[in-house]
Amino acid sequence: MLAKLYSAGIYGIEGFLITVECNVTKDLPHFDIVGLPDASVKEARERIRSAIESSGYFFGDPAITINLAPADLKKSGSAYDLPMTISILCGMGITRTEDDMCFFGEMALSGETKPVRGALSMTLAAREGGKKRIFVPAANAAEASAVDGVSVYGISSLRQLLDFLNGNIILQPEKFDRQIFERQSSNYEIDFADVKGQQTVKRALEISAAGGHNLLMIGPPGSGKSMLAHRLPTILPPLTFEESIEITKIYSISGLLPDGQSLITQRPFRSPHHTASAVSLSGGGQIPMPGEISLAQYGVLFMDELPEYGKNVTEILRQPLENKEIAISRAAGRFVFPTDFMLVCAMNPCRCGYFGSTVRKCTCSLTERKKYISKVSGPLLDRIDIEVEVPAVTYQDMNRTDPAESSESVRKRVIKAREFAQERYLKNGEKIRVNADLSPMQIRKYCRLNDAASKILELAFERMGLSARGYDRILRVSRTIADLDGRADLNEGDVAQALQFRSLDRKYWGQ
Ligand SMILES: Nc1ncnc2c1ncn2[C@@H]1O[C@H](COP(=O)(O)OP(=O)(O)OP(=O)(O)O)[C@@H](O)[C@H]1O
Ligand SMILES: [Mg+2]
Ligand SMILES: [Zn+2]
Repeated sequence: MLAKLYSAGIYGIEGFLITVECNVTKDLPHFDIVGLPDASVKEARERIRSAIESSGYFFGDPAITINLAPADLKKSGSAYDLPMTISILCGMGITRTEDDMCFFGEMALSGETKPVRGALSMTLAAREGGKKRIFVPAANAAEASAVDGVSVYGISSLRQLLDFLNGNIILQPEKFDRQIFERQSSNYEIDFADVKGQQTVKRALEISAAGGHNLLMIGPPGSGKSMLAHRLPTILPPLTFEESIEITKIYSISGLLPDGQSLITQRPFRSPHHTASAVSLSGGGQIPMPGEISLAQYGVLFMDELPEYGKNVTEILRQPLENKEIAISRAAGRFVFPTDFMLVCAMNPCRCGYFGSTVRKCTCSLTERKKYISKVSGPLLDRIDIEVEVPAVTYQDMNRTDPAESSESVRKRVIKAREFAQERYLKNGEKIRVNADLSPMQIRKYCRLNDAASKILELAFERMGLSARGYDRILRVSRTIADLDGRADLNEGDVAQALQFRSLDRKYWGQ
């Protein structure tokens, strides 16, 4: 008998609807799976046979042909265990399904279900394909239920699913708790207030957060660079639900969403070590998986000890920083992963760490210093809007007992500044997420200077030998500083402050 039902697969980080057709006949015994399955899908045959028998049904020696459509997309992984099994049982006349149903899930030999990667993407694809009832492994139910407009049923075993399909039991759809999302999205365990002193650096981080500007911190060991970087997500606006869904798709496919958790609710903070491979950063593999730059989506990519990273790393970052996505081409097709993150870099000013420090003398020679600093390439510096020095914390600051400002309080200003900017862009019908994304043309339009501010920038241009790129970066940052102040016009104070966050170029790189 011919049976047909629906499942879903994964391509990159997106899901797609799959039709599973199964023909069970009385021909010579065989068990074939066609429709571009890879070895991992074919392996399912043993699990299917065992799971059916463990669930109390006679498998025997049937002639089975399963077709997974569309045939041009590669099918990989164990998520087809459950739909293929059900299709066989339908073909044998043991159970039946309806057209609004969609199934995916791995099965153990016992017929118990096991979670799969990409449940959120697959559920979204099922909804897109008009499916209304989605049957998923119990451990994926919380995740899949974040998709609204469909009923998600968490299935613990094949036996249970058959009992439901045959009308012997009733299953309740998984309820999604949106309040958990609201609660968690702005509730971090670390806080800006943990960092004492460092007012200038905190101001730089606030501007970075408000305008989405990439940032570089330079300072001696132990001055708090890592500590500050980790706290950047806590002053960024809480994730919107849509952002949370996008991030969760990436984490789920990478196998980084803990079982039973529904969504990633906080902005990612990724800090790949400088020994990390190119592939682990960019993403890759035979069936490409997202890399660190995609796992940092809508969050922060922190590159600590920047000069230690190889030059190829800079090369990897260049396009993704520009395009907010990375494309990986393979025999199986072209895969595109999002890479919309804020880049935060930290470094010591020299090998010994104390060049320019007031607390300890630098022991590096000029040549050593030049060599160290030159490992940070121009093209990467070109993509960093804000540079700030992080001096060693003073004794007085460390002993302060008055509380520093909390993340929540800083975040409020960041949110207000972003709203102020959004209003301007929406009014002009432009889709600009943050000031850091302003194109040179948009800069001419939205970052007009008054006469005094123009004068200052002109002077600086001559004196600092700014490049056209450097000029644009100063205007973008000035725009954000004015937005934090709720001002439409850019004044000389904004430009002066933005210039201050560029002065390290000259101090360290002599440009
Ligand atoms: N401003 C500060 N307020 C409170 N604690 C601080 C501050 N700065 C540093 N510390 C303490 O010093 C420790 C070291 O700081 P952190 O690791 O952030 O320094 P770093 O600048 O990243 O150093 P390195 O260059 O060695 O990586 C922190 O874990 C924290 O306990
Ligand atoms: Mg550090
Ligand atoms: Zn030194």
